Amino acid sequence: MVWEAGKLGGVEPDRLIVTIDGPGASGKSSTARRVARALGIPYVSSGMLYRAAAWVALKEGIDWADEDAVLAALGRHRVELVPSMEGDRVFVDGEDVTPHLHTTEVDRVVSPLARHPRVRAWVNRRLREIPPPFVVDGRDMGRAVFPEAPYKFFLWADPRVRAERRARERGEDVATVEAELIARDRRDRAQTEPAPDAVYLDTSHLSLEEVVARVVEAIRRRDP
Ligand code: DC
Repeated sequence: MVWEAGKLGGVEPDRLIVTIDGPGASGKSSTARRVARALGIPYVSSGMLYRAAAWVALKEGIDWADEDAVLAALGRHRVELVPSMEGDRVFVDGEDVTPHLHTTEVDRVVSPLARHPRVRAWVNRRLREIPPPFVVDGRDMGRAVFPEAPYKFFLWADPRVRAERRARERGEDVATVEAELIARDRRDRAQTEPAPDAVYLDTSHLSLEEVVARVVEAIRRRDP
């Protein structure tokens, strides 16, 4: 189902931003991608920009704990996020680095790196340059980056349920994945907060299809 722009009521396409935030493995990226497809608009993954920053830091062999060095490295490269309905691509100096962004090495570095305020500002500037309409997922899109977005969602799920989902995806052990998720939740906590006006969805007992249907339904219900 692709919605026509007119079906989104009073929201003009150039103001149409749907934010979907939540902790790791809450299903936000799968949800965001499908909602974007249902609405017929691009999907933007903010995590990909943090991953790109981590990749640049790793490639240059710089200490990711040194915020000045990370920013200097980012300043030496042209990082572009190309949004799409199917999944974003990231280019560094014209090279498509997307396949290198979901490695264990990047996973390990990205979360502490994302705590640097000026790295967050660097990511946020890039996100704000993207012309709406789009669906964006992350940790703090609704609260910190796009407070003006007309549609905001925050997805939650029990750590055990999230661990089961991720372990299934990656063929790993549930208990190990759960311990890693809880540790990552703790590290990401400061930046993972629902916007006060976000629709909060506990997805622990919902399938992906049900979550997508609820998000699309909530958008439809809130049309003028
Ligand atoms: O969504 P993801 O797993 O690709 O995100 C990768 C990391 O980036 C995650 O550990 C936390 C960080 N992140 C963030 O701090 N703020 C965002 N808006 C998105 C991601």
